[in-house]
Amino acid sequence: MKNYLEVFYAQNDLVRGAAERITIHLGEAILSRGVAALALSGGSTPRSVYELLGSAEYRSRLNWNKVHLFWGDERCVPPYRPESNFRMVNESLIKSLSIPSQNIHRIVAERPPAEAASAYEKEIIGIFDLKAGEFPEFDVILLGLGDDGHTASLFPGTAALQEQRRIVTEVYVEKLMAHRITVTLPVINHAANILFLVSGRSKAEILQQVLGGPPGLYPAQMVHPIAGSLSWLVDQEAGAQLQTVSRT
Ligand code: 6PG
Repeated sequence: MKNYLEVFYAQNDLVRGAAERITIHLGEAILSRGVAALALSGGSTPRSVYELLGSAEYRSRLNWNKVHLFWGDERCVPPYRPESNFRMVNESLIKSLSIPSQNIHRIVAERPPAEAASAYEKEIIGIFDLKAGEFPEFDVILLGLGDDGHTASLFPGTAALQEQRRIVTEVYVEKLMAHRITVTLPVINHAANILFLVSGRSKAEILQQVLGGPPGLYPAQMVHPIAGSLSWLVDQEAGAQLQTVSRT
């Protein structure tokens, strides 16, 4: 298992570092298999990453016709609502690319949550051609870190965290009084490259607890790639409370 922590000077540098990694990993997948699968997250830092990936500087570096876009989680709202993760990616990335519509696998989150989750699970099983009990292997899955230690829509204390069999599940998040749809931990852990993007001083304490505190307390600590790599890309503000390496 390969684990990396990279602390970037500022948020802009983190955004650039993430865009670079995503481009490289997807490019390698296209070279070796002719196709790549990217699972996207919501959040403000990812939005800037998507804008950069869709910019003139970056978009020609990848054959986006060969990239399939998925979502790691979604809020249960129609795609035109401001909270929609699909809408965010559509505005920040998809609109700038010429990508076939059959490569865009959004979570149809305006359906009732249980139905939306099983429909998305079927979509993933179909695209990855999975047999019973198999999990998809995303080339890249992007994750954020919530201030309660959640990642994707795997919130502390929810049954979704225990799910070992399903690929996608619905979850009711008490404190948000809302349903979400999320991929499960086994899906995250089967990905080839797991990238956490964490920025800003509001994340400093939880990042320290997740990376430096006792294990098993937060959902983000349950991410352990089976064969892939796990990278924490953070800016200095988010990394402010991480212990520096002692050079004695
Ligand atoms: C979402 C997410 C969620 C997010 C974290 C961190 O849709 O809300 O996918 O897991 O990544 O809450 O979000 P920020 O990076 O914006 O703080």
